[in-house]
Amino acid sequence: MSKLWAGRADGTINEAAEAFNASITFDKRLFREDITGSIAHASMLGKQGIISKEETNTLIVALGEMLSDLESGALAVDESAEDIHSFVEEALVKKVGAVGKKLHTARSRNDQVALDMKLFARKAVDEIKGKILSLVAALTDKAEEYKGAVMSGYTHLQRAQPITFGQHLLAYAFMFLRDASRLSDARARLNTSPIGAAALAGTTYPTDRFYEAELLAFDGVAENSIDAVSDRDHVVELLADLSLVMTHLSRLSEELVLWSSFEFKYIELSDDFTTGSSIMPQKKNPDMAELARGKTGRVYGDLITMLTVLKGLPLAYNKDMQEDKECFFDAVDTVNACLDVYIPMISSMKANVENMLSAAKEGYINATDLADYLTKKGLPFREAYKLVGEIVRDAIGKKLSLEDIPLAEYRKYSDLFDEDLYEDIAIVNCVNKRTSYGGTAVASVEKQISIIREKLGGV
Ligand code: ARG
Repeated sequence: MSKLWAGRADGTINEAAEAFNASITFDKRLFREDITGSIAHASMLGKQGIISKEETNTLIVALGEMLSDLESGALAVDESAEDIHSFVEEALVKKVGAVGKKLHTARSRNDQVALDMKLFARKAVDEIKGKILSLVAALTDKAEEYKGAVMSGYTHLQRAQPITFGQHLLAYAFMFLRDASRLSDARARLNTSPIGAAALAGTTYPTDRFYEAELLAFDGVAENSIDAVSDRDHVVELLADLSLVMTHLSRLSEELVLWSSFEFKYIELSDDFTTGSSIMPQKKNPDMAELARGKTGRVYGDLITMLTVLKGLPLAYNKDMQEDKECFFDAVDTVNACLDVYIPMISSMKANVENMLSAAKEGYINATDLADYLTKKGLPFREAYKLVGEIVRDAIGKKLSLEDIPLAEYRKYSDLFDEDLYEDIAIVNCVNKRTSYGGTAVASVEKQISIIREKLGGV
């Protein structure tokens, strides 16, 4: 296909160079954004009298038809075009003749591609944010279901203190809420229109960038024409935000894999989200969680790709910037796919409450509570800590839990011990005494649930 830029050169290049240079195979998915931007551009040209009303009308109608034909499949993207911008312009000229050649007045592919990417990014953010909030809702519902399910909390993957499964799930709900709010922040920052910057220096035509920005629902215009076409900060920022979404998904994935193992047996994932083994009949593998964990690497890679593309790049547009698309599309597609699986996987997950509780009873995770008991009776915490350490060491030797040690034995360690110690170290009481703000007590979990639900209602 002849090149848009044929003129000084004849528009033909080496075959390998042509394929290397082209972006149509991946930027064709920007056709909606490209045409929507072009419709706004034609309207602005018409309003400013740069083209006639009749020409404006012809362009807008034809572009609208092209958009619906591309949606329906009546029109196919010609992959011999260099990029989506060239394709749309060429198809328009084919459809309406010479007037189609007026569309590119007062703009360049440089501001056009910046515009397309911003329109795409906005839509992607809205979609992903909606899914993240659905995941938050699913985690919160699960947390409510298991707000009283006692399990061991871990540090260093060693049993640490009793918590509830609800509290643990809510930790993730809060992480994902922050992810959603980070995306909102990034969206607000990117929502300025680059169109009208033209190649880099602005234009001599009497354009109205504000009008065009308003038509495209931007909050304002990029203030500097060189920055407008050179800026891909928003792509980096969104890739960083998406990387954090994947960080959180992969941490949760790791826990789902552990918890569903034979060793833990804390949860059961629905058959809909597990696979079997081709050789071991007993297997139920948490492939979806593993894949989400694994796909985290590619999203981090996408972020590093974009940072590296921009590093040391002189102003303004350089062809390197064409490399913004595949990494961004890949991250958006990956996060979307992970969330699509994750939301129903969490909703259908079941906890094995008895196993969680019995594991919690085995790990001396009420040792802190025993030390706190002595502290309440007047022993300085550091001394109480040391004494309880000795009690635990002896109990491990005798294969006794702290609840099983008779009072007479306790008294050999300290006469501060009394019958009431057993109530203080009962696992369920350990949980429900943790009423500090944000703590694991059921009442506190309920409070957190209502905070999240209020935020979800308000987002
Ligand atoms: N396909 C190009 C890209 O994605 C469009 C901009 C081309 N601009 C240029 N000056 N060659 O970046």
